[in-house]
Amino acid sequence: MFIDSYGSFKEQFYKLTGIDLNAYKEGQMRRRIDSLIAKNRIPGYTAFINVLKSDKEKYDEFLGYITINVSEFWRNPEQWEILERNILPPIINDSGIKVWSAACSTGDEPYSLAMLLGEFLPLNRINILATDIDKQVISKARSGIYTEKSIKGLPARFRNRYVNHMCDGAYEVSQEIRKCVTFREHDLLSPRYPLDFDMIVCRNVLIYFTDEAKDVVFHKFSRSLKPGGILFLGSTEQILYPKDYGFSPISSFFYKKL
Ligand SMILES: C[S@@+](CC[C@H](N)C(=O)[O-])C[C@H]1O[C@@H](n2cnc3c(N)ncnc32)[C@H](O)[C@@H]1O
Repeated sequence: MFIDSYGSFKEQFYKLTGIDLNAYKEGQMRRRIDSLIAKNRIPGYTAFINVLKSDKEKYDEFLGYITINVSEFWRNPEQWEILERNILPPIINDSGIKVWSAACSTGDEPYSLAMLLGEFLPLNRINILATDIDKQVISKARSGIYTEKSIKGLPARFRNRYVNHMCDGAYEVSQEIRKCVTFREHDLLSPRYPLDFDMIVCRNVLIYFTDEAKDVVFHKFSRSLKPGGILFLGSTEQILYPKDYGFSPISSFFYKKL
């Protein structure tokens, strides 16, 4: 669409942000970037990089835009029901549970997890690491404040117990649930992954990655899980050859590390 090259845009963007756009499916990502550049009436990629370098607000807005951070509590309820009924009972024991919510966005997912795990364990034995590449969503997640739209799918049993209605249609997740979750920045394309998890939840981000990038991520997830640990993926993110990563499928979206 623009006369200057997307390849050199990706290089300059990597130098500026540390985000490797080569790992994201190109057609989709490029269409999003091109339409944002056109909307802002910027003549091309080089001019756009200069805007990102000089305008902090545009930089933050752009990162939010390309990372696509839509989320909600209890997203895809049928998956949470399988998690509660079939997946969690055999893996929970009195010593507690260590879970990683990778690409957690605004925190809806790790807080939903803490509420559900509270049905099985005292809250002080629930340890959830929640990570995302985007600083802005992490700081929103830490605030624990949400709109009605974000929490509308959360079952009433959790909403009544753990969500406080504030003024102006804002809702706050209770302190006891927030204490179960530690938020941190982390890029799934970086070489270092945290270790020793009973479960990793990574949903609605791998759909944007190339097959090569997904292959690397699945190997690393496998290394980050304890034997018998569970990987919980989003609805369109099934693994084609789970054995290649030492996983056995237990039901759609759920894999067990052998
Ligand atoms: C659509 S949200 C998914 C949120 C939540 N897991 C859910 O399913 O509702 C995708 C998230 O992936 C994050 N993300 C994108 N690329 C990433 C990367 N390389 N490493 C870590 N997080 C990434 C985005 O910042 C965004 O918050």
